[in-house]
Amino acid sequence: LYHLKTKWLGRKIVHYHQIDSTNKEAKKLAASGEKEGTIVISEEQLAGRGRLGRTWISPAGTGIWMSVILRPSIAPTDASKITLLAGLAVCEGIKEATGLPVQIKWPNDLVLHNKKICGILTEMSAEMEKINYIILGIGINVNTDSFPEDLKNTATSLKIEGEKEYDRKEIVKAILMYLEQYYELYMKNQDMEDLLEKYKNHCLTLGKEVKIIHRNEEFIGKAVDLSKEGELMVEKQDGQVITVFSGEVSVRGL
Ligand code: BTN
Repeated sequence: LYHLKTKWLGRKIVHYHQIDSTNKEAKKLAASGEKEGTIVISEEQLAGRGRLGRTWISPAGTGIWMSVILRPSIAPTDASKITLLAGLAVCEGIKEATGLPVQIKWPNDLVLHNKKICGILTEMSAEMEKINYIILGIGINVNTDSFPEDLKNTATSLKIEGEKEYDRKEIVKAILMYLEQYYELYMKNQDMEDLLEKYKNHCLTLGKEVKIIHRNEEFIGKAVDLSKEGELMVEKQDGQVITVFSGEVSVRGL
């Protein structure tokens, strides 16, 4: 039991002990008409998926592996904004529940002491310029004790950094409060202005040198701002400012 304070988000939670991927299950549910706000959570994922076709290690009982079904009435081209606001909501929720100084690496990785603790995988189904559903897949390393050798330098958990165990339910509860609130705000205003102001306060990417792969070209630049659509604005070494929608951005030194 979560004792949620939300109005509609997470009012139905489908809970599994073990599943291949909560995103996959949420997509199945959404495709057969499941309503907005339903959430799939699993204690363990056997085939957790990350962005860019990567796998997401999801051991039993240590993390938050969850997928949220949303049905926003916005253009498919605006779906990336839902991902951004989700990153913000998850960041604020974790901070509130744990007190740890979590930051957002644009667009929506969450890092703690410069190592990744959370990733978000957004999957969308759209037809005729209309969104049918969006699945927000959120993976958070909460009480993980250790990571495989190849991930040690880039991944961490709340427990490793905070040196204590955290209550996963408290974190989920806080995240859902922020997510509902920010989602409603965006739907009402149909713009990102207020949300981006908040986002910038938590974003570690701004002001940093970043390595970007843009149109198959790799270069170094400085992340100077976010556009009002939420894209990253990067000043190249020749002074030209380009706008990056998504893709691989690495903050130098991270
Ligand atoms: C990333 O690569 O950064 C995104 C990782 C997303 C992982 C979550 S865990 C819950 C949901 N189900 C999945 O299979 N993936 C997402």
